[in-house]
Amino acid sequence: MIIKYQGIKVYYTSAGIGKPIVFLHGFLETGKIWEPFVDELSLKRQVICIDLPGHGRTGTFGEVHSMELMADVVNAVLEELNVQKTTLVGHSMGGYVSMAFAENYREKISGLVLMNSTPEADSEERKITRDRAINLVKRNKNAYIGMAISNLVSPDNAISFEKEIEELKQEAFRISAKGIVAALHGMKIRTDRTKVLKELTFYKIIISGKNDPILSSESVKIVANLSKCPLILIEGGHLSYMENSYVIREIVHFID
Ligand code: MLT
Repeated sequence: MIIKYQGIKVYYTSAGIGKPIVFLHGFLETGKIWEPFVDELSLKRQVICIDLPGHGRTGTFGEVHSMELMADVVNAVLEELNVQKTTLVGHSMGGYVSMAFAENYREKISGLVLMNSTPEADSEERKITRDRAINLVKRNKNAYIGMAISNLVSPDNAISFEKEIEELKQEAFRISAKGIVAALHGMKIRTDRTKVLKELTFYKIIISGKNDPILSSESVKIVANLSKCPLILIEGGHLSYMENSYVIREIVHFID
């Protein structure tokens, strides 16, 4: 389904009836990553998957897609669907967007799952990596995508999930360079929301891969501690929804 926000198309899917749960994909992904879970979960709940700005079938809003802008887009979809309160599950960048949403629309959240994600801002070192990535995308977008996605899982899982990773790349190749650069800028300027996470009193959890190459489990342990947020550390790398798909099902049972 499509709505327009600030005159730009926003694509989302909604299936099932019941307590809403919104899934937000990460950088270079689309709402498609959640497809393997939708049929089962939508037997009991309203399952909403949104293509975030610049990704999938959602348009690009400008040079920078801040996490706040992305959260406003999520809110526009919720308003369209008349959803008053929802659980949010955010993978990586989707988790950063969830944190911006938690800050700006706190009354609309009933539960929060940060998957391979963090409430923290980029370190200075990471900001430099973002600038390098922006230059690379401008020079050779597809080479950047191929490399970035290959680096997300352990060598073992790269073999076990070869087909899924190839599909992820094919889907990502369709994302425009402008959309990728806007997300990189947005992630780079995001603020630290550790305090926001700490203050959330409803069901909240961080799920992290022990060998996540993007967010080290040591740094996630520290931030989980600081934000008083329960942490589940599982095997695998940055793509827990793929590498450990059972986790999604378990979480949803927990939330219920
Ligand atoms: C993601 O998977 O969304 C990104 O790797 C997050 C990031 O680059 O910080």
